[in-house]
Amino acid sequence: MAKVFRNVLIKNASQLVTCSGHAAKYGKDMSDLGIIENGAIACKDGIITHVGTTEEVLAQVNESDYRVFNGKGHTVLPGFVDSHTHLVFDGYREDEFSWRLRGDSYMSIMQRGGGIINTMNATRAASSERLTLNACRYIEGMIKMGVTTIEAKSGYGLDKKTELKQLRVIKKLRKNFPIDIISTFMGAHAVPPEYEGRADAYIDYIISDVLPKVDYYQLAECCDVFCEKGVFNIEQSERLLRAAMQYGLKPKLHADEMVDFGGAELAVKLGALSADHLLHVSDDNIRRLAESSTVATLLPLTAFSLQEPYPRGREMIDAGCAVALATDLNPGSCFSYSIPMLFALACISMKLTPEEAVTALTINGAAAVGRADSIGSLDVGKQADLVVLSYPSYRFLLYHVGVNAVRITFKRGELASLSSVF
Ligand code: NIG
Ligand code: FE
Repeated sequence: MAKVFRNVLIKNASQLVTCSGHAAKYGKDMSDLGIIENGAIACKDGIITHVGTTEEVLAQVNESDYRVFNGKGHTVLPGFVDSHTHLVFDGYREDEFSWRLRGDSYMSIMQRGGGIINTMNATRAASSERLTLNACRYIEGMIKMGVTTIEAKSGYGLDKKTELKQLRVIKKLRKNFPIDIISTFMGAHAVPPEYEGRADAYIDYIISDVLPKVDYYQLAECCDVFCEKGVFNIEQSERLLRAAMQYGLKPKLHADEMVDFGGAELAVKLGALSADHLLHVSDDNIRRLAESSTVATLLPLTAFSLQEPYPRGREMIDAGCAVALATDLNPGSCFSYSIPMLFALACISMKLTPEEAVTALTINGAAAVGRADSIGSLDVGKQADLVVLSYPSYRFLLYHVGVNAVRITFKRGELASLSSVF
């Protein structure tokens, strides 16, 4: 388990990439990383207390009070926020991946009873211990790549018992790892076989039977829905999310992933934290997102795995949207939590700049899970969630294509992962 060094001082960092701010950054502001050359950062009891040049910080602190790291030749950034994952599941779908390589589409496999229902069957049958062990494997890998906050959805139970089981596993994982795991209830991920052809009745069941339990046991912060042609329509999605909001859950949506369906517009109307995927979002709805408080969360690893066109991230930022990037880790459309590959696709294929990609994975990711006030930037008073790169510039996150550039990950000042001798 991680060693506790909660009072940490990193000095002489070649770059301290602060991403300073307490809210999502929109459009052009996403390029401003607030970089401090030869920077230093001090943290006490897991909270950032000083940020500045090494000279400024050393003038204000007593080095002997800290575990001191020499950051010469290294870059320090805020911990990455993976704001969209389906972390808890059992069963793999490698056969579906090869069917897609041969030309099958994701939705046609789903309509044949594969896809999410395939994972639902395995997840219903799995013990909590098995689900926990599966997720541990991914979380360990994610921390090594600099992730300090993960959003994790239910949605492979599609019945009360299994949805609650998944959410309880997330709660347990939160206790086992030195990172934040934000729980999202996604009972409306697909229509289960028991309700085939009766999506309205399934939404009624979630609202009357499952949501009250999720609330009673305090198992989720957010509620998400797969708002998509052939899954849940706009009316059903709105009905569910409004009911969830009555319980204090914050809405998020899988929106306009397969077709332009109006999910992004609904997200804006509800003041959702985020509208996610957006592969087929219309120009009008890009404009609506830009004028809203809803973060446009893009998942290029999914588009890559599904061989779909990438979301129009460049246009969204140029239109003034707040864009976040996340992995979408799940056993079907995207069995990957690779941060290096996410950077590569975002910059090389979607034409985000490295600065925009860093903002999208830090402060904007934090906003997409409602935590921009406490994580996502190196600001005094925020949690000491830090990533130290092996290299002197954040640009290595992209330049070192597909390779993990992270040397150390700190969560609330604790050493969460150390790749090799610093
Ligand atoms: O975000 N699109 C819906 N949900 C997931 C995929 C889940 C699965 O295929 O198991 C997604 O891509
Ligand atoms: Fe997803």
